[in-house]
Amino acid sequence: AHQWRGIIAEYADRLPAHVQTHVVTLGEGGTPLVPAPALSVRTGANVFLKVEGMNPTGSFKDRGMTTAISAAASRGAKVVVCASTGNTSASAAAYAVAAGMVCAVLVPDGKIAMGKLSQAIAHGARLLQVDGNFDDCLIAARKLADAYPVELVNSVNPDRIEGQKTGAFEVVDTLGDAPDIHALPVGNAGNITAYWKGYTEYAESGPATRLPMMWGFQAAGSAPIVLGHPVTFPETIATAIRIGNPASWAQAEAARDTSGGLIEAVTDEQILAAHRILSRECGVFVEPASAAGVAGILMLAEQGRVPAGARIVVTVTGHGLKDPQWALRTADGAEVTPVRVSADVVSIARALELD
Ligand code: F0G
Repeated sequence: AHQWRGIIAEYADRLPAHVQTHVVTLGEGGTPLVPAPALSVRTGANVFLKVEGMNPTGSFKDRGMTTAISAAASRGAKVVVCASTGNTSASAAAYAVAAGMVCAVLVPDGKIAMGKLSQAIAHGARLLQVDGNFDDCLIAARKLADAYPVELVNSVNPDRIEGQKTGAFEVVDTLGDAPDIHALPVGNAGNITAYWKGYTEYAESGPATRLPMMWGFQAAGSAPIVLGHPVTFPETIATAIRIGNPASWAQAEAARDTSGGLIEAVTDEQILAAHRILSRECGVFVEPASAAGVAGILMLAEQGRVPAGARIVVTVTGHGLKDPQWALRTADGAEVTPVRVSADVVSIARALELD
């Protein structure tokens, strides 16, 4: 039976040759585009979710990691390094195992979700908690790669963008054309850059006849592009996008401006509300950062800025199991614990209010 072969094999004609000579894959990509009627009703648009939590390590990073690690392997690299808020490190660690490489990861002290930390450790990464935030980690990782025989696999590596652009290809291949709007969270700004590249390439030579508006959303406490200046001490519960000086800042602005789109901020409260709606009304469990795109379209809908009937794709970037603690609280922040019952059907039926 046919099985999805990973993005390098599936999109061989659209990827550079140097990522194809030594392919390292875990079967990434081919993720579902799920209709979200609950979000369509709330926004008056036609909303689909690109569920990137379905990738092998549970986030969209795998699309760029298969290409980055394959390219590194073709050059004979033995050691790779990344700075990460968690998902890049989980992905790099897994693909390094598949490639037989050593993976060093620099993560900000104490601000990594437990699921992501567990992944990097499980895959045997050389994990260093850096006394600093993500931006400090990225500066250090770049310097390390400049001075030592170590390949950098952050999204400043163009091979990462090449892989991640396939997310846009899949959306067009599924819908038959580009949507009116593509919404997504923005942290280091690699993904918005990659989606825009993918949509552009598919419109220039390929099945797409049009381009979407790119709508990016940053967390309000970590919104340098919205503010127009770096944020020295970024804060947000959405730790994946807790970034004060995005590496692909200029490319993100170019995607926004060329597409006639926008980059705006959503509060942690809006992010958690969207996280809840995704869980309870869409059946899609994501980590908080992944809910920022949904929070954004809900905010714009409230402001009357979502065109009626527009086809909107929102990338939900990472799986809820990465950072599950947020599910265990009510909307008011109270802790949720399971109801205890004895093992008899009468008590269980009573607890379920069945009679
Ligand atoms: N959503 C999730 C779940 C992420 O992990 C990230 C980035 C983003 C959104 C933002 O994407 O950086 O391309 O704008 N995580 C990186 C990491 C920074 O280290 O895992 P971006």
